[in-house]
Amino acid sequence: MTTQHPQRGLPATTRTLLLTGNDPEQKRQQLLTYFRQTWELYESLFDCLADEKAYYTKAISLRHPLIFYFGHTATFYINKLMAGQWIDSRLDPKIEAMMAIGVDEMSWDDLDNSHYNWPSVSELRDYRGQVRTLVEQFIQTMPLTLPIDWESPAWVILMGIEHERIHLETSSVLIRQLPVEWVKPQPHWPVCPQARHSRQAVPENSLVAVAGGQVIQGKTDQTYGWDNEYGRLVSEVQPFQASKMLVSNAEFFQFVAAGGYQQQRWWDDEGWNWKTFAQASMPTFWVGSAEQPETLQLRLMTEEVAMPWDWPAEVNQLEAAAFCRWKAEETGQSVQLPAESEWMLLREQVDGDHPNWEQEPGNINLAYWASSCPVDHFRQGDFFDLVGNAWQWTTTPINGFEGFRVHPLYDDFSTPTFDGKHALIKGGSWISTGNEALKSSRYAFRRHFFQHAGFRYVVSSHKESMSQNPYETDNMVSQYLDFQYGPEYFGVANYAKTLADIAVGLTENHHRALDIGCATGRASFELARHFEQVVGLDYSARFIDVALQLTSGEDFRYVTQEEGDLVEYRQVRLKDFDLDTTQASRIHFVQGDACNLKPQPEKYDLVLAANLLDRLRQPERFLRDISTMICSGGVLMLSSPYTWLEEFTPKENWLGGIRENGEALTTYQALQRMLSAEFEEIAPAQDIPFVIRETARKYQHTLAQLTLWRKR
Ligand SMILES: [Fe+2]
Repeated sequence: MTTQHPQRGLPATTRTLLLTGNDPEQKRQQLLTYFRQTWELYESLFDCLADEKAYYTKAISLRHPLIFYFGHTATFYINKLMAGQWIDSRLDPKIEAMMAIGVDEMSWDDLDNSHYNWPSVSELRDYRGQVRTLVEQFIQTMPLTLPIDWESPAWVILMGIEHERIHLETSSVLIRQLPVEWVKPQPHWPVCPQARHSRQAVPENSLVAVAGGQVIQGKTDQTYGWDNEYGRLVSEVQPFQASKMLVSNAEFFQFVAAGGYQQQRWWDDEGWNWKTFAQASMPTFWVGSAEQPETLQLRLMTEEVAMPWDWPAEVNQLEAAAFCRWKAEETGQSVQLPAESEWMLLREQVDGDHPNWEQEPGNINLAYWASSCPVDHFRQGDFFDLVGNAWQWTTTPINGFEGFRVHPLYDDFSTPTFDGKHALIKGGSWISTGNEALKSSRYAFRRHFFQHAGFRYVVSSHKESMSQNPYETDNMVSQYLDFQYGPEYFGVANYAKTLADIAVGLTENHHRALDIGCATGRASFELARHFEQVVGLDYSARFIDVALQLTSGEDFRYVTQEEGDLVEYRQVRLKDFDLDTTQASRIHFVQGDACNLKPQPEKYDLVLAANLLDRLRQPERFLRDISTMICSGGVLMLSSPYTWLEEFTPKENWLGGIRENGEALTTYQALQRMLSAEFEEIAPAQDIPFVIRETARKYQHTLAQLTLWRKR
């Protein structure tokens, strides 16, 4: 179907700006226009509220009422300009505190009953007027050089604008969730007039084959982006099939009619719990009873209309996934939601990108209507609605790309969603404007959440799970990862590598090595450069899991504490250390207890025990056992700061650091006494320093003592 632009008085929309250019003054004017149009567009959305109650009553229990969002996009400018020290005083500290932070949609049963004393609408209108004046003056006078980058004050302005455009969309969803009597249609927010009201008239969906291929993600276009869009991710996508159209209300009705909402087997646990809690029996925006489909209506932003059966079914990800399970059984094919990478491959069928489109190729950027439209209206390549109409749920939990770093002025934009619980949505809806309309944009919501979002399904072999936690937040694991793979601090060389280098110099036979107390495995990897077989053993299964993941070549991401609640995101991958799967394949990582070692099939040429002795319950027993596992001529390396603590080692088991018959006994002396029968000490003890970072400003600087023993 070709598209006639039915221009109809939607509020003026503009396109997001290019960051580049040769003429800063021209860019300043473009910024001013973009700011004003966004501001006015946002305010005009609130024209759709017909009643004061619409401002002050929560549309859904987990979000603030709309009065908050009316003020919030304005306070955002002031709060960010203050945080960046671009302005030095507030306009209204009370409003700016009250409307600073939106409630992230919590889990569906986590009810927020906080009470706020909201300002009146007219107070807020006045406040918005003051902010507008301030921001306009700021844009007119701020230093501006091109291209605009992260440090530029213009970046803060773009952040405010794109933030307001996000809330334009999410507020439109909240309006859609208000009682219909409290809202009113507006001629400048027109609904698509085209709809098929008979299910039989809706065209059948079908599957289209898609060749696989490599997908490279990471924002390179010269427009404003959120932090999660930058970095790089390369995925190999296997061939798959994808539905030509979004799933329409008519197609989704088949699942409803088949008892989809009554049968638990189509739902995962989270989905069934949500369905039961919400008492859902059909999509949330359907009005009426699914028993009498002829009478069903669809709730739009400001009105209820006879069911447009050929518009996309708008559901949450849990419902979409349940439909796919049902469809998979109906068809005997592996029907599921697409992965983000599969959508990216589909997206290649759409020419160009916002903001360079001459005319929008789909129902996006408010270019046509203030509602969805038929799923066969906008053809794009072999498909319809790859962009626009309704967002499309994926199976992919949002995460940062390789090289991800947070923007310091908005450090909580993305990272709270990197929890394995927020699924990406792609493609944009009719009201996705600015950054949201870009190919590189990445937005994610909890699976039970509603947006103007539906889905297309794929037949695909990809497997993704929402349950993993992509960033390691366990403090102990993070600290050790940073200790073993992170940067050097205060010029102190990497401890694990230093020890491994010494080990290689001491041993002639490089057959078998044991790294006992290996933690996240760095010394094992270093030893594997030289030894044919390495066993990395640790008591902590958490550490061994990390080491195994690194072995597989995946990168491992972790959070380090900066200061208080503030954190930084880091990643480790073997290839950054010039290591690959060749070395990794020589290592066997295993969980085990150094005080209860299993008999080993073969003896070792080297045993490295770093920072282990003083963490053992029975260090003497360990030394006795281990000596039987070392070849004649083999080397035992003991490196320890001898920080004996009763928390780890009962005092009667401390090797040294005690008085024996009234005389001081150091651990070194005790080791000499204990090992001399079976070992020869190769070299005098030496100090090996190491640094463990606790926060950005607190480090432990330790001197371990290294002693070296050759088995007789
Ligand atoms: Fe916000």
